[in-house]
Amino acid sequence: MSEHKSRTPPNHLIPDFSLLDDEKLTEAADLFATPLLVYEGDRIAASWEKLSKALPKGVRLYYSVKANPLVGLLTRLRELGAGFEVSGLGELLAAKRGGAEADSAIFLGPGKSQEELEWWLKWGGGVLVAESRNELERVRSLAWKLGVRPRVALRVNTHTGCGEQRMAGATPFGIEIEEAEELLRLYGEVGHGKAGAVELVGVHGFLGTRILDWRALAQNVELVLEAADRLQRTTGQTFTFVDVGGGFGTPLYEGEEELDLASLALALNKLIGRYLVKYPGTIIAMESGRYLVAGAGVLVTRVLDVKRNGGKLFVIVDGGLHVLGGRDGYYGARCTSFRLLGAGGRGVETFTVCGPLCTPLDRLASDVEGEVPRPGDLLAFYLAGAYGPTAGPGLYLSRGFPAEVLADENGFNLMRPPTDLAQLVGGQMTSSHGEVAGLRSWGR
Ligand SMILES: Cc1ncc(COP(=O)(O)O)c(C=O)c1O
Repeated sequence: MSEHKSRTPPNHLIPDFSLLDDEKLTEAADLFATPLLVYEGDRIAASWEKLSKALPKGVRLYYSVKANPLVGLLTRLRELGAGFEVSGLGELLAAKRGGAEADSAIFLGPGKSQEELEWWLKWGGGVLVAESRNELERVRSLAWKLGVRPRVALRVNTHTGCGEQRMAGATPFGIEIEEAEELLRLYGEVGHGKAGAVELVGVHGFLGTRILDWRALAQNVELVLEAADRLQRTTGQTFTFVDVGGGFGTPLYEGEEELDLASLALALNKLIGRYLVKYPGTIIAMESGRYLVAGAGVLVTRVLDVKRNGGKLFVIVDGGLHVLGGRDGYYGARCTSFRLLGAGGRGVETFTVCGPLCTPLDRLASDVEGEVPRPGDLLAFYLAGAYGPTAGPGLYLSRGFPAEVLADENGFNLMRPPTDLAQLVGGQMTSSHGEVAGLRSWGR
């Protein structure tokens, strides 16, 4: 018997799918093999609508590609009206392939390579978010060289901020306020005549993710707006663009509640409304990844083994950390929403679900009470649409990535085939004798 208290999966958090019932998920698993990620496009549209309705009118919402860069999903989001927040060349290429117009994208991240900056400037991307003095200088000199004048916002580090992963204070993100002031004086339009290479359009702040408390999220927005206000007052600049971040959370575990969007809407309307009275015409931007796509994804796994060790019952499935591991840092220590597809039949007991990786971290759910599955049964894990393969150790143990499939009323569309293991291993070079040295642009 387990010494831990048994848990019940928080299955009230499972979204209302119009297509993905047990039968459809089983059909997909039979067609494409497991582990498998299945997405329902309508769920993305539903989350988009819910979130955009809660934001003050005129707020520009950018989809954070890092949450899930699947081009098929990006296309849907673009059709819904999303801009794209990208962080690296791979995401830039994905957004472009998803149909993003250059000016509908913003590019951020604490370390941008010269190649990435050059690509962005030549593409004519919307707003480049500079994360340090050094980066701003690099953008300026590259812009001179290329004869372009990119729009640049400074990412501000406000020192404080809320969220599961705090992104302010002693972190690699952004520029401290005092330094931002200095840079605006130097390079802003009303600076010392040095404006020209870049157009400093405003600021960006993103202070935390997976925030489920509307008060914390509103407080982060307020911090960024305060920074924008201070910087304009002290430097005499006028900002046309202020990205106030986001961090809209989705509940994944027992004891977690949906973000109260109605209360958040009231708070944001007040904060942003007040700011716009003082600074009319400013474009206010927000970013969201997980809120828009998490609910749309289901991870379907097949049970490989059921066994008892040290008095505990273990269920081993074929999808684990490598498919879902980046979603959060809990590694199954808490209990997420999952269901046995089909009848089961071994009775109700307490068990722990593990993936196939050779690490005790590979747990998907610990000490849950439920119908015990049998080898060959399917377990579906919900809220799996964000930070799955994109953030997990997909190449750990040379497992590779699962197939990803988008379901619509016409059936299943294979968006990305699973990693071809023969290619993963066979595609490697054991000796190139320098023949490929200097070749840095595969597939671009
Ligand atoms: C700067 C920035 N923007 C947006 C996001 C997306 O966050 P979320 O998926 O929680 O909406 C992140 C996540 O780490 C981020 O660092």
